[in-house]
Amino acid sequence: MNVRHYDHRDAAELRPLLLEVYAEVYAKAAESDPFAAVDRFAEGLDGWSTRPGWSCVVGYDQEGQPVGYAYGAPLPEGARWWGGLLTEVPADVTMETGTRTYALSELMVREPWRGTGTARRLHDALLAERAEERATLLVDQTHPKVHKLYESWGWQTLGDLRPRIPDAPLFHAMLLPLPQASTH
Ligand SMILES: CC(C)(COP(=O)(O)OP(=O)(O)OC[C@H]1O[C@@H](n2cnc3c(N)ncnc32)[C@H](O)[C@@H]1OP(=O)(O)O)[C@@H](O)C(=O)NCCC(=O)NCCS
Repeated sequence: MNVRHYDHRDAAELRPLLLEVYAEVYAKAAESDPFAAVDRFAEGLDGWSTRPGWSCVVGYDQEGQPVGYAYGAPLPEGARWWGGLLTEVPADVTMETGTRTYALSELMVREPWRGTGTARRLHDALLAERAEERATLLVDQTHPKVHKLYESWGWQTLGDLRPRIPDAPLFHAMLLPLPQASTH
């Protein structure tokens, strides 16, 4: 797999590819879950990809076909991200400065490449470039295997979080300390 890195300047050009892979990966989920609908995702993508610091990695196979991707962006000061946190934590845990925390918004891999280490490689490639001190992600509580997978990659569970948006499921909010790339 060939991994390529992108930033917000590439977002418009990448958009159709990201939507196509999403539609395939989430086709089944979207049948019953309005939160997984492609147009909802497209709105979210447009919001994320215009944020300063948005970054994305896409993996390609030998023929140049996308196999999966991951993207995210730093949380801004006073981030809404933590607004739906239901577990009480000390205030400094959710204190954002704009440069403290990288939010891993999406990670998905097309089915033929599941269980091959591809997801982990994309995850590691995305985070290796980041200068933030930690990363955060949300994992749906009805997907315990994915939660376990992230724990096996070193992520720690902070608590329960339900974003304050319509149809949002209950998530585990997770944190991962980042080694802080020496190049930044
Ligand atoms: C999450 C993902 C990137 C991990 O890829 P991977 O490292 O190759 O791991 P696998 O696909 O083997 O998944 C690990 C386990 O989680 C399960 N799982 C993965 N995605 C799931 C989902 N959306 N819902 C429920 N279970 C899921 C798999 O069935 C697998 O279970 P198994 O070990 O019994 O086979 C990939 O499974 C994927 O793209 N899933 C769909 C999108 C998604 O859910 N992304 C995560 C959002 S937080």
